[in-house]
Amino acid sequence: MIYDLIVIGGGPAGYLGAERAGHAGLKTLLIEERFLGGVCLNEGCIPSKTLLHSAKIYDYARFGEKYGVTAKDVLLDHGTVIARKNKVVKTLVAGIRSQLKANHVDIVEGHACIGSRTTEGYTVKVGSDTFIGRRLLIATGSVPVIPPIPGAREGVERGYVLTNREILDIPQVPDSLVIIGGGVIGLEMASYFNSAGSKVTIIEMLEHIGGSIDGEISQILLKNYQKKGIEFKLNSRVVEIREGAVVYERDGKREVVEADKVLMSVGRRPAVEGIGLENIGVEVEKGAIKVDDRGKTNVPEVYAAGDVNGRYMLAHTAYREAEVCVNNMLGKKDIVRYNAIPSVIYTNPEVVSVGETEESAKRKGIDFEVAKVSMRYSGRYVAENEGGDGICKVLINKKYRNVIGVHMIGNYSSEIIYGAGLMIEAEMRVKDIKELVFPHPTVSEVIRECIFQFKD
Ligand code: NAI
Repeated sequence: MIYDLIVIGGGPAGYLGAERAGHAGLKTLLIEERFLGGVCLNEGCIPSKTLLHSAKIYDYARFGEKYGVTAKDVLLDHGTVIARKNKVVKTLVAGIRSQLKANHVDIVEGHACIGSRTTEGYTVKVGSDTFIGRRLLIATGSVPVIPPIPGAREGVERGYVLTNREILDIPQVPDSLVIIGGGVIGLEMASYFNSAGSKVTIIEMLEHIGGSIDGEISQILLKNYQKKGIEFKLNSRVVEIREGAVVYERDGKREVVEADKVLMSVGRRPAVEGIGLENIGVEVEKGAIKVDDRGKTNVPEVYAAGDVNGRYMLAHTAYREAEVCVNNMLGKKDIVRYNAIPSVIYTNPEVVSVGETEESAKRKGIDFEVAKVSMRYSGRYVAENEGGDGICKVLINKKYRNVIGVHMIGNYSSEIIYGAGLMIEAEMRVKDIKELVFPHPTVSEVIRECIFQFKD
């Protein structure tokens, strides 16, 4: 069988790309070696949000007195949380399978390896079977980075050091959990395991947490976490992992922190190995497949989308990149605009960001103005967040008066940030946004408050 398109990898980029291609009438094959839905659905975005939701309910119950609600004998049953997570994942994976079927996509389970380029198309081997595709969409995603720290690799093999995959299936809550890396995964998992009763310590080599998020918001998040009892070792470099302990260096001094389990969350790298890229000469740069803004690689009719291109390792970017690839395959010009991709850290409180931060704007030499308000400008926020210390920050281009960045810390902001992304995408100016009506009382009103701090 010769396919119009073979998609390698069934995560967000792969399954959505296959769905869109199938819908447009391309005879499409999707090859996946583990689970449909990929990391996002099976061992990333969705499972972690399921766990975090249980932790939120538990925390509301435990700390409800200030809202006039007291509850006794509140328990978080980790086993039930994991069982529910598995049910949620199963439901969503089934949904993807039926969507693919509805769009006439064939699915093959197994490891795909690109063979060669022939006059009919590209050969792709799965075990002893060979398929031919006129086009390829490579969407193999990413894998966790295991740094060359003595004891790290052995720890992973012995099950003492966990990655995002294992931690989401851990049968019992560890008494103590040391998290290496205070980025997105580290912070989200710290939130759950702190609520669930672990003594959580985060070791981060930078002096701040949350990677490239706004510096002030990073500080607020740090304080919130410290208040909950999460310990931080910043400016700290892990030098050794032993069963039961992690050794790190800070200010030239070696210190040890005990750990029942260790989570390694120091980033992910594109999955480019063992898929036969070299057989057709696909260019890999800095460990990622090199693509242009249309998702094209250097090889004709071979596209790559999602984490494997190493650009923006976010599931929603992967969706859009896959759509752009398929549109270009169909002859429709389309590009990904990377300047307005929202990102969310599902901590409690949530942290969101879209566009330039003050730090990135300064680095790029953009002339900007910034407005900042407390989330307490929102009546709904005050009603629902006793003692909340959230903020909202908006950046505009000083000359053109259009929005170039929005950053928030506070709950519900994950559901609001797409609107800020729209403002950036549509190059909306201060005076345009002043004319918009925001629903009251909602947390979104803080954006409007910020906007009214600017002159038209
Ligand atoms: P990350 O890049 O977000 O954070 C890694 C952190 O580890 C950084 O702060 C870095 O400074 C630190 N680090 C690196 N090496 C270290 C070392 N040897 N010792 C101590 N600290 C060290 O990576 P993370 O958290 O592993 O997440 C991986 C990917 O998954 C990211 O690209 C992220 O965007 C994505 N993701 C997105 C989520 C979301 O959108 N809500 C949720 C979870 C993951």
